[in-house]
Amino acid sequence: MLNIIKNRRSVRSFKAEQITDGELDCILEAACCSPSGHNAQPWFFTVIQNKEFIDYISLKTKLVMTGSGNEKARRLGTSENYHVLHAAPTVIIVSGKTEKSVIDLPGYEFSSYSPLADCSAAIQNMLLAAESIGIGSCWVGFVNYFFALPEEAAKLKVPDNYRPLFAVCLGYKRNETAMPLPVRKTDCVKYIR
Ligand SMILES: Cc1cc2nc3c(=O)[nH]c(=O)nc-3n(C[C@H](O)[C@H](O)[C@H](O)COP(=O)(O)O)c2cc1C
Repeated sequence: MLNIIKNRRSVRSFKAEQITDGELDCILEAACCSPSGHNAQPWFFTVIQNKEFIDYISLKTKLVMTGSGNEKARRLGTSENYHVLHAAPTVIIVSGKTEKSVIDLPGYEFSSYSPLADCSAAIQNMLLAAESIGIGSCWVGFVNYFFALPEEAAKLKVPDNYRPLFAVCLGYKRNETAMPLPVRKTDCVKYIR
């Protein structure tokens, strides 16, 4: 398990070949086994395996990013080589139930009893499950520029009372060796003993 955690990397270059349904089921099952506050399991997964639609989402997202106030988003949005979903053959949109946190304190809207935390746990399970069976993955937040367009987001057919939060890209890794190691912080632990 520790090796899987350490070896998992965000993969941004995928083979066009589709993953098998068995592999997809394994990853979705891992998502559904995630912890959630009050065991609410407030998640919904939309599996997209249609290249045209995946490319369309990227195109529309980039259009919005181009007009963004965020410098990085603007730069990526105008970059010809950038594909928001890394041209992955499988993309899973993770949506969370629009419930309020049960912690009734100001500022705790996104505390541990929240769909955002629960869906994030499910995403991490998916990434690790994918790595464990040799499949590359990438957690994608920029797709929120697409979710912000109500007419476009409706095309995801997410059930009422759910809100799309993130995308997870999945596919066979194209280039396993060429990924530079990200710098990992080491000054983020305080011991109280
Ligand atoms: C909430 C969240 C949003 C992210 N959004 C994106 C994204 O839009 N595009 C992307 O390529 N990577 C995205 N990532 C991946 C991070 O860039 C990546 O995890 C980080 O650089 C560390 O690299 P590693 O995953 O290889 O360890 C996201 C990760 C998280 C947790």
